[in-house]
Amino acid sequence: MAELPFPDPELGDGFVLLRPWREQDGPQRFAGFSDELCRRFSWPRVEPPTERDVLGAYERDERERLAGQSLNLAVADAADPARVWGAASVYDVSAADGRAAVGYWVAPWARGRGVATRSLRLLAAWTFEGLGVQRLELTCEPANVASARVAQRCGFVREGVLRSHVRFKDGRRDTVVYGLLPGELT
Ligand SMILES: CC(C)(COP(=O)(O)OP(=O)(O)OC[C@H]1O[C@@H](n2cnc3c(N)ncnc32)[C@H](O)[C@@H]1OP(=O)(O)O)[C@@H](O)C(=O)NCCC(=O)NCCS
Repeated sequence: MAELPFPDPELGDGFVLLRPWREQDGPQRFAGFSDELCRRFSWPRVEPPTERDVLGAYERDERERLAGQSLNLAVADAADPARVWGAASVYDVSAADGRAAVGYWVAPWARGRGVATRSLRLLAAWTFEGLGVQRLELTCEPANVASARVAQRCGFVREGVLRSHVRFKDGRRDTVVYGLLPGELT
């Protein structure tokens, strides 16, 4: 499958800017992702992520982008693009089926100001227009109320619960599935 392009021009709305990760983002990337909420909902292992886990993502990001599988972008402050607010990614891209999934996290210092909602809107619109995706999926843990609100605010439809869907921490967990089709983005 062809490599995934970086959005050009970069995705932004004057408040958030989605841009490629930079080497210098390392400390903010690690600090933002190693907080309690990210660990609870976005990190599958029991032991907390190490700096090596998080920074190892640079290499994995590029490998998966070149393989056409995923694209992971930094979410930054549009007024100061060196300031990292979180991450937004498209993954499980299937060109054959015209389908992809989206994920995100926001650092504790940037939460509660619409950063996730704005980032998801920008990324979702680009997957439809730039990648030709016809179905976008978003999955989260049933207890993740904030993420469910983000999905609903963007127009995602809650489609159901996949029971015992993934290995998580020292057990398994259910997954709520949301779907968004072209024209449904709000
Ligand atoms: C989920 C997350 C990305 C939301 O980021 P955010 O930028 O704070 O979200 P927004 O400001 O866009 O808020 C979206 C909605 O969530 C609500 N919300 C935020 N935190 C909440 C909380 N702890 N409990 C309930 N609702 C919450 C907001 O009130 C808002 O809803 P509203 O419009 O009805 O008021 C962030 O909490 C996070 O990074 N969590 C850990 C990682 C994670 O869960 N990622 C998603 C995995 S599926």
